[in-house]
Amino acid sequence: MKNRPIDLRSDTFTKPSKEMLEAMMSAEVGDDVFDEDPTINKLQEKAAQLFGMESALFCPSGTMTNQIAINIHTQPGDEVICHQYSHIYNYEGGGMAFNSSCQAKLLGGKRGLLNVEEVEQNINPDDIHAARTSLLSLENTSNKGGGSCYELSSLADLSEVAKSRQLGFHLDGARLFNALVAKEQNCRDYGALFQTISICLSKGLGAPVGSLLLGDKTFIAKAKRVRKKFGGAMRQAGYLAAAGIYALDNNINRLQKDHDKAQELKNALEECSWVSHIDPVETNIVIFYLKPGKDQDLFLNILKEKNILAIGMGQGKLRFVTHLDTSSSEIEFCCEVLKKL
Ligand SMILES: Cc1ncc(COP(=O)(O)O)c(C=O)c1O
Repeated sequence: MKNRPIDLRSDTFTKPSKEMLEAMMSAEVGDDVFDEDPTINKLQEKAAQLFGMESALFCPSGTMTNQIAINIHTQPGDEVICHQYSHIYNYEGGGMAFNSSCQAKLLGGKRGLLNVEEVEQNINPDDIHAARTSLLSLENTSNKGGGSCYELSSLADLSEVAKSRQLGFHLDGARLFNALVAKEQNCRDYGALFQTISICLSKGLGAPVGSLLLGDKTFIAKAKRVRKKFGGAMRQAGYLAAAGIYALDNNINRLQKDHDKAQELKNALEECSWVSHIDPVETNIVIFYLKPGKDQDLFLNILKEKNILAIGMGQGKLRFVTHLDTSSSEIEFCCEVLKKL
């Protein structure tokens, strides 16, 4: 029998563990549209408390939590400042335009991270010819930036700019827990800086479904209305929330193991003559580049034949993502395969 594939395409490919499934099976549930699902209520309270924020809303996906936040922070015709690599711009199906009639002001900045100078230069003047800049949205860790993370001091500076220029300040924290573990930061620092934070339970934390939007009570009351409009209000979804509670209780600190595995892959790639460059590895994402003339699809197929799955990002750029469903021995095997290619 063939072994299961070693799936390094993304940390979204994890499946719930036996213990997580047991927690799900024994969840108490109710109709969440009527606020009567005790497990969802517990998850929301737990997440809000963790970040020292007033309130939280359980949603089906990270895309939805981001899109709800954008919808509330902006008016039609407004401009959202975000990085050119950001998920909200690149990978949410044009949602910012479709759901909220907003446009993006895309900034550069190292590896998916924004800096104060560039943000300040790109806030539009109060002039009827210009779109109103109403939201500054960051992503931590940056997915397309290769799992890069912010220093807390940079976030504090960006928060100051947002406050002084009266911009909404949102964080797409789909992989925020990876950043927290890597930088030894804590949730409450983030709760104090951002107006809204989206955290995801179904990436590194290993739950099958779900994200939470965090904010103050007024914002989350509005978010509940928008979630309904977007079709994301759920009924007995406490079974899913139970997986989220299990994930928050058990799967945060172990993220360091995923970061160590990413370093192992990076070390192996450093020994490969066919690699031209590897981006710095800060968390669980490894981005590397094939030497010119090497065919990306051919490379992915060769890996696939060895039972290893990875993702090509075009023009010889490739990505491995480590997660809780890749064991140490599987990573060791991958490293051996890479070194022999
Ligand atoms: C940085 C980032 N934000 C948001 C999302 C969206 O999450 P979802 O797939 O749950 O919609 C993703 C998904 O990969 C992501 O990487």
